[in-house]
Formats: sequence, structure tokens, C-alpha cells
Amino acid sequence: MPQTTSWTSKHLLDLESLTAEQIAFVLDTADTFAEVSTRSVKKVPALRGKVVVNAFFEDSTRTRTSFALAASRLSADVIDFSEKGSSVSKGETLIDTARNIEAMGIDAIIIRHQAAGSAALLARTVKCSVINAGDGAHEHPTQGLLDLYTIRKRFGRVEGLKVAIVGDIANSRVARSDLWGLTRLGAEVILVGPPTLLPRAFERLATGPGRVRVVHDFDAVCGEVDVINMLRVQNERMKSAQFPTVREFTRWFGLTWDRFQRCKPDVFVMHPGPMNRGVEIHNEIADGPNSGILKQVEYGLAVRMAVLYLTMQAE
Ligand code: NCD
Repeated sequence: MPQTTSWTSKHLLDLESLTAEQIAFVLDTADTFAEVSTRSVKKVPALRGKVVVNAFFEDSTRTRTSFALAASRLSADVIDFSEKGSSVSKGETLIDTARNIEAMGIDAIIIRHQAAGSAALLARTVKCSVINAGDGAHEHPTQGLLDLYTIRKRFGRVEGLKVAIVGDIANSRVARSDLWGLTRLGAEVILVGPPTLLPRAFERLATGPGRVRVVHDFDAVCGEVDVINMLRVQNERMKSAQFPTVREFTRWFGLTWDRFQRCKPDVFVMHPGPMNRGVEIHNEIADGPNSGILKQVEYGLAVRMAVLYLTMQAE
């Protein structure tokens, strides 16, 4: 089992508060867990006897499944909590729900919630580990970590790379977690999107040593980047008229076939999913040799095993 001396937090709430060393330590720990998925018996006893609750107050396919699978590969018991059919629909508050779940003797809550700050609020209230699986437009730290892991696997490093994050930045918790993580590990982040979905203030979010640039013209930068991370157009979070039409968005900010021809030949294309094929990303690019999209999903499992293991070992 990996050494846990570099990780002391019971919770994973964001990447903003992590150091480069802590991030690298999680990625190194994920490396040791990646091998488990290649065995015929895909289980280790690291969390035997522990109970993890998957509490998702928003829709999710891959994140929820990935966490459940990660916990089960560590031999923890996983309980699925969903808002529908629970007392939340009777008006119970998040805190009361969490306290009641915790009273049953669980060891970790994985929470996805539409309110920014909900995971942090929970962490102040309960005694068990809290892992943020996406809180509103704030952060999605395990997605950020798996994006870093995927980039590190592809290039052998993160430092010095130029990474474009493109699209609906303002509404994206993935963009925020990626931004913190990438700049901490020394990548240059180029945020690309229309002014309505990408305020200039994002430039000030750099945490160093990497820089952040805000660009409203995708064509001006597509030829210089090593990685392009296309974000989903988040219709459910979009305030009215943040861009004129979907066609217009695709034309200026989509990874179209034509634009892809002007990228570096070995540009690495990522997307957190779920994809709007033909909107932010062309079909053949998503399925083509430059795409790392399914690798992100595959590596996400090892990264989440590492996060569960490290947080649940910490006192
Ligand atoms: C993202 C999310 O829910 O934040 N998806 C994911 O977790 N894989 C991104 C999105 O919904 O667009």
C-alpha cells in the first residue's frame, strides 16, 4: 500500500487549497492503484469494513459510477443515496439528511450538489470524510485530478505544457478545478470562450507557477496548444442569451473539423463528458486518435480510488 504521510486531510473539497506536492502525491498514489484494474480479481482490501455513501443531488452517470466502482475495488461497502424518493423531497435540509446518514455509521460521503459550497458546508458539520463530486459551478476536484493524471500519462509531465480550456468557462466547475491544478503544476492555461461565458477576471485566478491567459478568439490560439479540453455547453446553468445560437457557438468556439486541421498534429483532445457531439466537438475528433476522452474515464477510476483511500486513512 502507498505511504500516506504526504496526505493529512480527511476531505477533498477543492484543488484551490492543495499544494503542487499534494496534487502530485494523489497522482502517484493513483499510479499504484491503476494496476488493480488490470488484474482478473479487481479488488484490494484497503477499505474493507468501511462504508461509503454516494449522495448525488444532481444527475450524473460517469462520476457516480466511477466513485461506486472505485469504492468497491477498495472493498468498501457503497450505499447509493438519491434525492428522489428520499426525505429531501419532504423538505429535509442537506445538513439534517447528512447527519442522519452519518448516524448510521458511515465513513465517507461523496456529494454532488447544485449549490456551490455545499461540500465544504457538509465537511464542517459531519465527522466522516467528505469528497466533493461537483458543487454548483465551484469545483469538481476529482475531475481536475483525473484530467491532470491523463495529461501526465500522455506527456510524462504537466509542467510547461500549453492547455486550452474552451467553452462555457463561467458555468464550469471542471474549468475551475483544472485551472487551479494545471497552474499549480506549472502548465500554461489558455481559457477560450465568448466574453459572456468568460469574464476577464479569470486571468487573476492563476496560482503559479503556471500562467493563465483569457482569449476570446479560438483561432488565434488553436495552433499553439498541446492540449485542448472542450467543455460541455451547460444549458441547465446558462443564463438566458449568453450566446446567440448553438450554431453560432459551434462556429466560433467548437472544435470543428476545419479548426482541428489548424491544430498541432499531435494535439491531445479532452472532454469531461457528457459530450454534445456536433456542438462543442466534432464526432470524428471525439472518436479519433487524438482523443483522450475514454482514457479520462479509465484513469478516473484509479484517481478516485486514490482519493478515497487517502482521505479515509487520514485522521
Ligand atoms: C461534468 C460535471 O458534471 O461537472 N461532468 C462530469 O462530471 N464528468 C461536466 C459537465 O456536466 O459538463
